[in-house]
Amino acid sequence: MKITVIGAGNVGATTAQLLANAELANEIYLVDILEGIPQGKALDMYESMPIMESDTKLYGVNTYEQTKDSDIVIQTAGMARKPGMSRDDLLVANANIVSSCIKEAFKYSPNAYYIIVSNPLDVMTYLAMKITGLPRNKMFGMAGILDTARYRAFISMELGVSMQDIQGLILGGHGDTMVPLPRFTSVAGIPVTDLIPPDRLEAIVKRTAGGGGEIVSYLKTGSAYYAPAAAVVQMVESIVKDQKRILPCSVMLEGEYGYNDVVVGVPVVLGKGGCEKVIELKLNEDEKALLHKSVEHVRKVIQEGMQLINM
Ligand code: APR
Repeated sequence: MKITVIGAGNVGATTAQLLANAELANEIYLVDILEGIPQGKALDMYESMPIMESDTKLYGVNTYEQTKDSDIVIQTAGMARKPGMSRDDLLVANANIVSSCIKEAFKYSPNAYYIIVSNPLDVMTYLAMKITGLPRNKMFGMAGILDTARYRAFISMELGVSMQDIQGLILGGHGDTMVPLPRFTSVAGIPVTDLIPPDRLEAIVKRTAGGGGEIVSYLKTGSAYYAPAAAVVQMVESIVKDQKRILPCSVMLEGEYGYNDVVVGVPVVLGKGGCEKVIELKLNEDEKALLHKSVEHVRKVIQEGMQLINM
């Protein structure tokens, strides 16, 4: 298993470290435009492997030749948010960065699975698919696991119970229009709506939608990376070990939920075939309306993104 992580910043480096610690790859290539940074970070991580009891080998590079024939490529390069910015505000900067990185990586690893993390995530996944022509089982985005993890963490805080017992689901775009689904949320099998009053649940849903922004407002110089990196690792693990976990990921819809040619978060089965299946939930009218709003918002930003890369 050879994994390439593009971007040796906060998200990329943390992802590489977690993957290596879990020994999910034999080799990890960390790529960045900054000279010395991927080399230094990869070597530092490599030197931690005897302590972590992992035999993963890590290498830092500035070009893509050595990433040849990667099995999985994780795209994290790009600008991160500063306070007051929405993810969509990153579009102009990241459309060009993501398209140049993906073109290079794809030249050397046309058979890899691609996980897109750079924001605005759904739009970047769409652009990367159009650039490479890859089908949706091979290229998808990380967002829903992160949003759902935040939602689960807040529910755990509210109830004072184990995170592990909380199951939840968030659909839609990775932004303010995301659609948390209390009806599909349970705590050890008990519907969350039986445990948390509507006003508190509403507050949790709101905090979840603004969860990324909350971290940005603390950090001031960048955005979240521990939870995003952990979410990427969960996707990689499900693919590498063929776990066939059902996880919310950003994928191209092909008629599911009544939509085509748009990338948004929905539950999928992740296994050795990548995104092996999209799961279609039976939504009620309110949930459908929220998803519609989210899809239409993502579509609008996709159009802007396609113009930026002249497609
Ligand atoms: N090729 C390779 N690396 C690049 C390029 C490029 N063309 N352009 C920028 N980079 C690198 C930067 O040098 C930096 O090391 O991408 C890295 C980004 O790291 P950070 O600034 O720490 O940003 P990070 O927090 O990792 O976020 C990266 O992930 O979650 C999203 O919204 C977030 O879009 C952002 C991305």
